[in-house]
Amino acid sequence: PAKQNMTWDVEYILWSPDCQQRVMIGINGKFPGPNITARAGETLSITVNNKLHTEGLVIHWHGMRQVGTPWADGTASISQCAISPGDSFTYEFVADKPGTYFYHGHFGMQRAAGLYGWLVVNATAEQDEPYRRDYDGGELRMLLSDWYHDNVYAQAAGLEQKYDHFQWVGEPQTILINGRGQYDCMLGAVTRFHRGIDRRARTCVRGKEAKLCGDEERCLRRSECGPYCPQSQCAPVVFDVEPGRTYRLRIASTTSLSALNVQVQGHDLTVVEADGNPVEPFTVPDIDIYSGESYSVLLTTNHTPTFYRSGSFWISVGVRGRPPKTLPATAILRYTNSRFPWPGSPPPATPAWYDLQRSKDFTHRINARRNAAEAPPPPRTEQVNRTIVMLNTQTLVGGHMKWAVNNVSLTLPATPYLGAYFYGVQGSAFDASGEAPNGFPGGYDIDLPPANNSYETTLSDRVYELPHGAVVDVVLQNADMRRDNDSETHPWHLHGHDFWVLGYGEGRYTSGRERLNTEDPPLRNTVVVFPHGWTAIRFVADNVGAWAFHCHIEPHLHMGMGAVFVEGAHKIRELDVPREAMMCGVIRTTAAALTPAK
Ligand code: C2O
Ligand code: CU
Repeated sequence: PAKQNMTWDVEYILWSPDCQQRVMIGINGKFPGPNITARAGETLSITVNNKLHTEGLVIHWHGMRQVGTPWADGTASISQCAISPGDSFTYEFVADKPGTYFYHGHFGMQRAAGLYGWLVVNATAEQDEPYRRDYDGGELRMLLSDWYHDNVYAQAAGLEQKYDHFQWVGEPQTILINGRGQYDCMLGAVTRFHRGIDRRARTCVRGKEAKLCGDEERCLRRSECGPYCPQSQCAPVVFDVEPGRTYRLRIASTTSLSALNVQVQGHDLTVVEADGNPVEPFTVPDIDIYSGESYSVLLTTNHTPTFYRSGSFWISVGVRGRPPKTLPATAILRYTNSRFPWPGSPPPATPAWYDLQRSKDFTHRINARRNAAEAPPPPRTEQVNRTIVMLNTQTLVGGHMKWAVNNVSLTLPATPYLGAYFYGVQGSAFDASGEAPNGFPGGYDIDLPPANNSYETTLSDRVYELPHGAVVDVVLQNADMRRDNDSETHPWHLHGHDFWVLGYGEGRYTSGRERLNTEDPPLRNTVVVFPHGWTAIRFVADNVGAWAFHCHIEPHLHMGMGAVFVEGAHKIRELDVPREAMMCGVIRTTAAALTPAK
């Protein structure tokens, strides 16, 4: 079996992702990090040199299941110690499944500092992706993110202040496509709709690329080169495509906060893959995507350029679900027979941000691809060994604003859980005196803010222990936040697994009474829980290791919105856990006397 070796230097770089220069975390001198393209079954060996000088570092391979290699999952405090400045660590794991993935930092808020990039796994010749025959034009990729001008240390410090000084990160300044955006600037004409979003938005003059470097760049005075200059770091992404073909467009979102909507002017999108799993194809004018999710959509270039249609089209990516204060990002789809390099009309407007029903309708349409070998049905409900209900709340703990699961806000220990089990030092590494709560009190009123419910929220690093092979259902139960009648959408991501999404519902989940889809539920690694609603998932705890399960909104995770599953606890000792990855916390101080608890 093939192996790909890579060496990465992770360092601070000065970069202008949205035409304004900031400090970012880059890899090998660039942002975003290198594109990884692997073949299914291939081993990836990535040596990460931490050249950040002042902070630790880990990299998580989002969507890789890490079967047999849980220490390569790249989660600080869970699967390994953060790599110290000056140190190196080699991640070695198998890219086991074809699909659309990405990688990102998983320590503090490093993801939001720009530490991310593509990880695409192609099918082997023998493995026929069920939609492989449906596109003949090749592949396009859009990695979506959002960008803040405040650095992540300021963001994290703001979140950690006591309540009076608590500072929410707010809305991002810019949406980025493949690491590029244009701050406070819309390419193309600003329509009345866009003006309504943000009056400060200024318009760049549309015109020919080459001419617009320098003089005519009116939008961004501080940058050396305007957004139309192809060599600038904030130049718009342009996809050159041939007419009359079908392309596979891979879209992934690693936003810090924003839920996004993607549309390609004049083109429908046929969804065929979600989080690396084949879905029953369906066609929509635009898609919603939450942080942590990925899709492949098929797009057919079926326009004939005419006097009115230039053959260039806007791809527009706007914010949904929160009052938009961030302008949509734009990229360009340009036919090779295009009459003009730029589209002749304004970018299409994003669907109304508050139209939650529209988002639900899209999400509910995603089901497993029928008769696909890669989309097995879930174990039957009678086989479920354990159901965990997870209440999502936002509340104050000791004057600090926190997010919590069943009134417990996750704090991460100094010793990685995986190492604690490997060396048999659970008791001194974290609170192993009991499990994290399996549910929440029956009397809890999800339609009232936590303060009106008399259950106290605490900080804890307890885990859920799942016996090897157990069939586990998790119900994410949304509730009111601190403000009455207010509830947010949270995209929950599970490490080490794909899970089946059994269903979504409104209000409070009633065990045994809800209609769940066990016929053709989609397999995913990230799923949303909608405001005031619930989401039910099922997975088989057959992957020995310690796995994070958390809201993929970076500030929410930072405020404790997560849980840890330890699977096959006593089998962890049989793994070949690399010792050097565990030398921190109580293991560091006692390691000399320790041998793995084999
Ligand atoms: Cu992509 Cu634990 O995250
Ligand atoms: Cu959240």
